Amino acid sequence: MWFGMVSIFIAHHEKILSILSTIEANLTSFLEEVRDLYKTNYSLLRKHAEQFLKTYETEMELHFKSEEEALFPYIKDREEVSDLINDHNWIREKIRFIRNLDVEKNPKEIVDNMTQLIDKIKEHAQKENQLFSKWGSQLSKDEIEEISRKVEEIYELRK
Ligand SMILES: [Fe+2]
Ligand SMILES: [Fe+2]
Repeated sequence: MWFGMVSIFIAHHEKILSILSTIEANLTSFLEEVRDLYKTNYSLLRKHAEQFLKTYETEMELHFKSEEEALFPYIKDREEVSDLINDHNWIREKIRFIRNLDVEKNPKEIVDNMTQLIDKIKEHAQKENQLFSKWGSQLSKDEIEEISRKVEEIYELRK
């Protein structure tokens, strides 16, 4: 039962990480091009940044919301929870920052911040995969059912 619930979140992580690894690979090849500044391709950078922001909007914010509203309230160790919420807020803040940068004026800042974000998201997902497996033994069957139902509700609302 818990495994089923954990696997929902872990499947979200896998989906997000696989999209991010594509973005990261694109960004790496872009960085190689950018070494020659005369060839800086702003429209390509804009495309990578937009793809990244869209992934955040369509996949990540809803995922954060489902963790924060459906799962975290049931977890007794508030220190572990607040560490994860701090990560979410750090990621949100960086997303806002990137969104406000101008591709032509701040190409390097966009690339640097996207790289930092991708690293942070990978680290965060790994941390959660470990914690979620551990938390499983601390929750009752009823709590797990409620959490699953709330996660479903949050995803249903999007449709
Ligand atoms: Fe999270
Ligand atoms: Fe997560």
